[in-house]
Amino acid sequence: YKRVTVKSLVDMKKHNEKISMLTAYDYSMAKIVDSANVDVILVGDSASNVMAGHETTLPITLDQMIYHATSVIRAVERALVVVDIPFGSYQSDPKEALRSAIRIMKESGAHAVKLEGGIEIKESVKKILKAGIPVMGHLGLTPQSIYKFGTYTVRAKEEEEAEKLMEDAKLLEKLGCFSIVLEKIPAALTKKVSESISIPTIGIGGGKHADGQVLVIHDLLGMTHEFNPRFLRRYMNLYEEMGSAISQYVQDVKNRDFPNDEEQY
Ligand code: KIV
Ligand code: NA
Repeated sequence: YKRVTVKSLVDMKKHNEKISMLTAYDYSMAKIVDSANVDVILVGDSASNVMAGHETTLPITLDQMIYHATSVIRAVERALVVVDIPFGSYQSDPKEALRSAIRIMKESGAHAVKLEGGIEIKESVKKILKAGIPVMGHLGLTPQSIYKFGTYTVRAKEEEEAEKLMEDAKLLEKLGCFSIVLEKIPAALTKKVSESISIPTIGIGGGKHADGQVLVIHDLLGMTHEFNPRFLRRYMNLYEEMGSAISQYVQDVKNRDFPNDEEQY
């Protein structure tokens, strides 16, 4: 795939090829992620946590999401870039949802948007799709509803919530979404959902049966160190590595070791 499209993702599922997705929020990181052949780059509203330091994803604004998305788009040559529509920019009515989606597409040059929820946002999803904007769904643990859940624990463990999730997944497929993120649900449910729909599921804490996987880049690189869910595999410990590199720099400056004779004009 020279340039990943929403159609490539559906083809990957058809050919049983797993989809890789990671978040990025700025130009430099997006350049690295894209060059490493990640299929989908998500400009997630997790920027609210990892970039801005908020406790939840709720405070980030549409303007801030567009700023992150614009920076990412400038770096990307291959990946499909999906942007989260933030809390408060689509829940009140379908027209507001469409307006927000259009702003993201027009001002950032992104390729698709992502919204959290199923039946509750049916009309908004329909309206956005009707405007020609590809939509990725997001079910299970939907962080914009954290105050409704009250906790970040695994969702849809009980029959009733699992059934609703399955119905929501089928609905999003029927409406025309190209993919669905499944966050923190039992692996068995991810398997059932993935087998019941033809569009790819992308898991985060959803187990091995999802058609693809997504992680927050700061978590994968170990830049965050107080977030330790079971589903997280850290590929580096950058929190410590960056810390020691920076301490070394401080020491070198203090000791008059940096800059040396070759490092000046
Ligand atoms: O905002 C985000 O990073 C996300 C992913 C974790 C799916 O929505
Ligand atoms: Na998100």
